[in-house]
Amino acid sequence: MTAAVLSPIVIAHRGASGYLPEHTLPAKAMAHAMGADFIEQDVVLTKDGIPIVLHDIYLESTTDVAQRFPTRARADGRFYAIDFSLAEVRSLRAHERLGSDGKAVYPNRFPADSGDFRVPTLAEEIDLISGLNRSRKRSTGLYVEFKAPLLHRSEGHDIAVAVLQVLHAKGYDQRPEQVFLQCFDDVTLRYLRHDLNTVFPLIQLIADPSWGEDSAVDYTFLQTAAGLDEVARYADGIGPWLQQIYLGRDAQGQAELTELVSLAQARGLQVHPYTFRADDLPAGIDSFTSLLALFFDEIGVDGVFTDFPDLAHDYLQDLRRHRDLP
Ligand code: G3P
Ligand code: CA
Repeated sequence: MTAAVLSPIVIAHRGASGYLPEHTLPAKAMAHAMGADFIEQDVVLTKDGIPIVLHDIYLESTTDVAQRFPTRARADGRFYAIDFSLAEVRSLRAHERLGSDGKAVYPNRFPADSGDFRVPTLAEEIDLISGLNRSRKRSTGLYVEFKAPLLHRSEGHDIAVAVLQVLHAKGYDQRPEQVFLQCFDDVTLRYLRHDLNTVFPLIQLIADPSWGEDSAVDYTFLQTAAGLDEVARYADGIGPWLQQIYLGRDAQGQAELTELVSLAQARGLQVHPYTFRADDLPAGIDSFTSLLALFFDEIGVDGVFTDFPDLAHDYLQDLRRHRDLP
């Protein structure tokens, strides 16, 4: 089950998040206009079980929740989205991502104290993308991530079922080539494939073991031949961290690459690494164009998650134009 679009694909990571606050509808509209093939939705649930588009399980890094609801933090000081109703979430102002020091994580991006942005529901975002597909005669797809399925389960919610209900209500089961589903948790992906019998292609995300993802999966094993054999039983591709493919430069200045992409593609798995940022390049990479050239031309990935979908789209357009030349 694969998406019938040109490969490689450009996935707008949290929208055109290099230019507008992540996961806001303006950032999604901009990504659509920039030619992204897919637009990403990270999804968590509200207290009343509504899927909303938000990267963190917490609200304080990208909204004014701490000012609006100062008494609602848990004992760890965090404001969990699952503790807030949709009506309360709707009342928050969303902004550019701030670090724990209160400063913008990406200081040259959209000003954090400016704009009137909100946290959208998954349904609202799908309506925006579907509407733009109609008015712009495009078929830009959805790339939905289930965030923290174990936390949601412990709070009495099934995030997989909640998201599928929205996708089905919006008719996407009739056009599954316009959707990817992704998760760091292999148990959730197996559940989607074997129990919920989803029609949508599934992507196994691969974290660094040090990140403390909400899953018991062994990410080191997943990057081996045996691990990828296992992934191929329930998924259609992998979403690795780009530094699980590119390790840096050796003493001669050559790019040091792992075998992850060839191992995965040999098993029929698509490879969509994350996250390509023009303002946060990996060590040993001198420009965003060099990074794209390494991953598209030399390594041959099937798509990239990027905060700068315009740059990746333009790069691929140039590449296709040149390859078509006699
Ligand atoms: O889902 C791919 C990529 O977005 C994973 O990283 O933390 O940005 O969701 P994250
Ligand atoms: Ca994501």
